[in-house]
Amino acid sequence: MTDAPVVQKHPIGSRVAKGHVKPHVGPDRKAYEEEHTQSVGERGDEWWAKRRLTPSFFLSSSLLQKANETLSWYRPFQTVRSGSFAQGNIAWFLEGELNASYNCVDRHASASPDKTAIVYEADEPSQGRNITYSELLLEVCKVANVLKSLGVKKGDTVSVYLPMTWHAVAAFLACARIGAIHSVVFAGFSAESLRDRINDCQSRVLITSDEGKRGGKTIATKAIVDQALKECPVVDKVLVLRRTGNEINFVDGRDLWWHEEAEKVSSYCVPETMNSEDPLFILYTSGSTGKPKGVVHTTGGYLLCAALTVKYVFDVHPGDKFACMADIGWITGHTYIIYGPLTLGTTTTVFESTPVYPSPARYWETVEKHGLTHFYSAPTAIRLLRQQGHHHLQSFTLSTLRVLGSVGEPINSEAWEWYNEHVGQNECSVVDTFWQTETGSIVLAPLPGAIETKPGAAQVPFFGQAPVLVEAATGELVEGPGEGVLCLSKPWPSIARTIWKDHARYLDTYMNPYPGYFYTGDSASRDEDGDIWIKGRIDDVINVSGHRLSTAEIESALILHKGVAEAAVIGIGDDMTGQAVHAFVIMKPEFSYSSSNETSLVKELIIQVRKVIGPFAAPKKVYIVGNLPKTRSGKIMRHIIRKIVAGESDQLGDLSTVAEPSAVDQIKQKVSESQ
Ligand code: PRX
Repeated sequence: MTDAPVVQKHPIGSRVAKGHVKPHVGPDRKAYEEEHTQSVGERGDEWWAKRRLTPSFFLSSSLLQKANETLSWYRPFQTVRSGSFAQGNIAWFLEGELNASYNCVDRHASASPDKTAIVYEADEPSQGRNITYSELLLEVCKVANVLKSLGVKKGDTVSVYLPMTWHAVAAFLACARIGAIHSVVFAGFSAESLRDRINDCQSRVLITSDEGKRGGKTIATKAIVDQALKECPVVDKVLVLRRTGNEINFVDGRDLWWHEEAEKVSSYCVPETMNSEDPLFILYTSGSTGKPKGVVHTTGGYLLCAALTVKYVFDVHPGDKFACMADIGWITGHTYIIYGPLTLGTTTTVFESTPVYPSPARYWETVEKHGLTHFYSAPTAIRLLRQQGHHHLQSFTLSTLRVLGSVGEPINSEAWEWYNEHVGQNECSVVDTFWQTETGSIVLAPLPGAIETKPGAAQVPFFGQAPVLVEAATGELVEGPGEGVLCLSKPWPSIARTIWKDHARYLDTYMNPYPGYFYTGDSASRDEDGDIWIKGRIDDVINVSGHRLSTAEIESALILHKGVAEAAVIGIGDDMTGQAVHAFVIMKPEFSYSSSNETSLVKELIIQVRKVIGPFAAPKKVYIVGNLPKTRSGKIMRHIIRKIVAGESDQLGDLSTVAEPSAVDQIKQKVSESQ
């Protein structure tokens, strides 16, 4: 039976249902179900394919022989889909040729050059500005030509380590324009993480900035890059954006100023013709081992899903102003700041600051200032702002908002209700969107205009998605209400195609656990209405403030400390961040420290993780212990430690497989001492 709580259903947001536009999906669940059934039926591929039959763009007929309502193709595709999960060779829109930058910029710059492409809300509220589609086109072309002048060619990788400035959008699209594969590294990652990601994809060129600005603080972006590049022999050119203008170290012959190089090149760059299946980008994400995975997305399928999910899940219409508050360094930023909204020609927002700078009213000030219609954020931010009190919202006009999104982690009902009531004023649709780096775009979400919402549930599959629940041990399908491992049973266009240079790992991670299905790594339950509730990860991935972290990666970072012999990392429920990192560490016998300076050792270990991975991965608690519970074959029994920390010591179950039971008592004692 399902253990989903009894919930009060919320009606479809009235601003969506009765607002100035007719929802794309509607008027009710039945309408959604009819279309969804078509999209996953035997002839489901036609749901995607039929979209090429309605020409609506003829912007440059010499370049564009055929077009469809969502994407502009230079050459039409013949085959909608090929391949299977089992073979791990899924491909969409074969033979089709297009360019992502053309789709995101040129065609809108040609139709409405003065339309705002990007609302750039700078860290200091007074310093932002709007960038039109024609300005964006110019900047994209300039950077594309600079990259070409540096010898970057189609199929090369380019690493990007940039803070949240609108120029980052130009950097992504410049790569796409010339057929280079961008590998964007979140600017909160440390020098060591950046180094590993550059070396894995072997990019010769890196795009970065002098510094970054966030929450009133200055971030030494270029100094981190310089540190990383000491061990990246392959990088020979670094293009540096001037963001703050402060003095920085500059390496002659290697470092080049973005603005100076842009002056030297022409203002137009012909977009490269790309096959639908050519890689568009690599994005590293954490898995269950210490080594991050370079998830590869290709062009046609990814772009189509990015755009269609913006259209249907957020019910975006012409004139809307879309704001996704994620960082461009994560998949949410890739898909919902850049590729999704821009493919549709929608105005998007690049928000450089934090939700609380200069005050906890910053988001609402931004909504009012720009008349934003869509706001997409993470439960952690919503919880933080709820804690600050709703008086921060009261003096702002939020009536332009129609759809509010949540992503990255389960949203608790208190946060959902607050979001709905205080931000949405009970008139917006609140969409809890479930998806992953690997899925490229939203998999589950209630569609505005059609689905009554339930706080805490991502509810129903997007078109073309056929989620199933699988019994973990047997691999059998769970039918009707129940709980199981969430798998996806039909290939969709934006599924990641491989892990960079490691297809075997791709197959092992996603395709082999339950043959015939894509394995998400999450567990979920299905309620009486057939709606899905995500429970959380069942592998060694933990989710802190919506940041995906691997326990193995944090353990490896700790072990790099000279005194650490062994480490075990677990995720523990946290009211504010969803989960928090707790680390248990055994020091080497020869490493001397007195228990009176344990506090400074703990600090050192936290700094160690910040240094190796980045500040966002820092453990909330570090416990120095003498032993860890292990099986006789030496495997650390993390589930026992997790239960002890979670206050469930009375539910440890059968301990007969623990090699040294005294280790359990030691952990209990250490945890109780620290509380
Ligand atoms: O555990 C799920 C959680 O985030 C994981 C994916 O993380 P990442 O690849 O970094 O992408 C995050 C943004 C798409 C998932 O396996 N997750 C994501 N969205 C939700 C969620 N958990 C519950 N509810 C969600 N809406």
